[in-house]
Amino acid sequence: MKRKNILFKIENGIGLITINRPDQLNALNNKTIEELHQQFEEIKNDKNIKVIIITGEGDKAFVAGADIKEFANFSKEQGKKLAKNGQDKLFNLIENFSKPVIAAINGFALGGGLELAMACHIRIASENAKMGLPEVSLGVIPGYGGTQRLAQLIGKGKAFELITTAQMISSKEALEYGLINHLESQENLIQKCLEISRQIMKNSPNAIAAAIKSINAGYNKELNGYNEEIESFGNCFESDEFSEGTQAFLEKRRPNF
Ligand code: COA
Repeated sequence: MKRKNILFKIENGIGLITINRPDQLNALNNKTIEELHQQFEEIKNDKNIKVIIITGEGDKAFVAGADIKEFANFSKEQGKKLAKNGQDKLFNLIENFSKPVIAAINGFALGGGLELAMACHIRIASENAKMGLPEVSLGVIPGYGGTQRLAQLIGKGKAFELITTAQMISSKEALEYGLINHLESQENLIQKCLEISRQIMKNSPNAIAAAIKSINAGYNKELNGYNEEIESFGNCFESDEFSEGTQAFLEKRRPNF
């Protein structure tokens, strides 16, 4: 289905989603969140897509935040609804997606933009990227999971500093903080994401989905990550991919997942 605010293409098993509002620095308005939700739902069970890369159109921004123009006059109830709707429909959907989602941070990733990147499983940023959660400078706080995921990724002390100062950091600092996995030149950003995707695609999709579920369980207060791991580990033994993976090893050949 053709969508207005995002572009989507599939190449060799990799889905590339591009947020396409460059004149607004790809700010996440309601419609864009809805379209992203629909896109992720549409590819959820598509076995031909193994990895998803998400980026922003243009060379200036990944996503410069939630759309400030859209929420400027919101009431308390509308504010709560905005955060809950976004978390349920998009940010948690991505975090729990059974296929790896890679954020290709090609410029500003601020507020909701950094929150979107943090919901992804892997983050690669270009040298020109700038990251931050500047919400307190607008009199609000991060509402798409930023207070939680930033502390998980870089530790509580640094998260307190970044959020309370509202400062932006460079991709070099983000790499030192552990906020991003790799730093690349802008020309090589997508290439690096494709390279990691191809590496992932050599492995069992079923086992990858189980690993994502187990890692996330450790950050969910209602679950026990170790128990989830035992459960998922056991389930893998019933899968055809496990038979193929172990058989291929014994036959000294590459597995065909
Ligand atoms: N929401 C809505 N519109 C946004 C936006 C956002 N988060 N970020 C940028 N835009 C819009 C600008 O309003 C401008 O639109 P206009 O031409 O219709 O006025 C356009 O994108 C270009 O942005 P501009 O501010 O002119 O670019 P810049 O290079 O001077 O500055 C930033 C870039 C990222 C520093 C600046 O746009 C900014 O501070 N954005 C908001 C960041 C933020 O606070 N995000 C958290 C939101 S919760």
